[in-house]
Amino acid sequence: MSNLKNKNILLGVTGGISAYKACELSRLMLKEDAKVNVVMTSNAEKFVSALTFQYLTGNKVSTDMYDISDEKISHIDLADKSDLIIICPATANFISKFANGIADNLLLNILLATKVDIIVCPAMNVNMYENKIIQENIKKLKKNGVIFIEPESGELACGWEGKGRLAEVQNIINFLKKKFKNKKLSKENILITAGATREFLDPVRFISNPSSGIMGLCIAEEFKMRGAKVNIVAGHTDVDLSNFDSYIRINTADEMKNEIAKQLKKYSVIIKVAAVGDYKFKKIKKDKIKKDENKIDFDLEKNTDVLQFIGDKRNKNQILIGFAAETDKVIQNAKKKVKNKNLDFIVANDISKEGSGFGSKSNFTTIISSDGKIDKLGLQTKETIAEKIADKVEKMRQN
Ligand code: CTP
Repeated sequence: MSNLKNKNILLGVTGGISAYKACELSRLMLKEDAKVNVVMTSNAEKFVSALTFQYLTGNKVSTDMYDISDEKISHIDLADKSDLIIICPATANFISKFANGIADNLLLNILLATKVDIIVCPAMNVNMYENKIIQENIKKLKKNGVIFIEPESGELACGWEGKGRLAEVQNIINFLKKKFKNKKLSKENILITAGATREFLDPVRFISNPSSGIMGLCIAEEFKMRGAKVNIVAGHTDVDLSNFDSYIRINTADEMKNEIAKQLKKYSVIIKVAAVGDYKFKKIKKDKIKKDENKIDFDLEKNTDVLQFIGDKRNKNQILIGFAAETDKVIQNAKKKVKNKNLDFIVANDISKEGSGFGSKSNFTTIISSDGKIDKLGLQTKETIAEKIADKVEKMRQN
């Protein structure tokens, strides 16, 4: 059964060129057996007619705040009867009005009156999207619990290239399906580490690795969808972490360890995805090293093993999950890590396989548990791997 079955979804359409894609979105939501009500702004009607949505959804399309044919107060009624509201596309103008509590049309009134989750799918010119005012407004809305589905990069209708194109409709549907997934992990307080650590030699130079932070992000999103409270300690990553309950950015392995140590006991599940550097510089130079010399010498020393530190300190009720990047003897090496670092299971990633590893969309993984069980997942998208990890945690909590 689809997760969207019988869900009342209010689709708000605002006036952008990608408004036509909202027709496809409503069609796909209906295909998943959702009940869809559409509310349009008057600018949206310049791009797509209300009649199109009316025929697609079989429901009356609301556009007017003061429609005398309505028996009930329309914005309160529509706000109350929805399970979720999605604004697609959301223009810069609409986002800014919403962020500032302006309610000069039916859709904005609904957003202020509702208690359900609101998802916003921005679509606009790249310069508008990157404009500081718009970014501040998005940040403000996120802080207030509004969920954003990021626009994609590519060719824009205005002729520019860059970030601003409405997210793929199928990705929006996938997101909604996940949103209505069971909330079996709602009692969990999760810590996820993600991204790459940096060990500095001087104020401008460091050693690091190419970890993108995407695997950590996928896991964070999956656990959030299943109701968990998600906290992130991130090394270097370009991914947006502002959708989560708490996040902090650090540079070095020592900073990561200190941050985690502060509140280690409060986490019920710890997932150590971050690619932590194994070595650090013995001496960090306070001033920038000049290029006067032809040769430079430095000593490296072993870094703090953050996962080992957690494994040594953890209590029995905490679930501890590690990741391993391997190129040979994958299972053998990963098994050792499970034992030595006192883990419940490890996700071993064979980065020698094509399509797997840092920065890619997928990983070639095997899950190895402390009881010796081995699940060969093979090459899967990072989203699917995140689902498998969450399934496994759910199962462990049931037992
Ligand atoms: N890890 C860590 N601190 C380190 C090194 C690794 O917390 N200094 C964690 C990683 O976050 C990961 C796990 O340990 O969850 C395994 O990391 P990996 O790099 O595969 O293994 P290492 O323990 O560093 O061993 P090796 O590099 O010898 O394979």
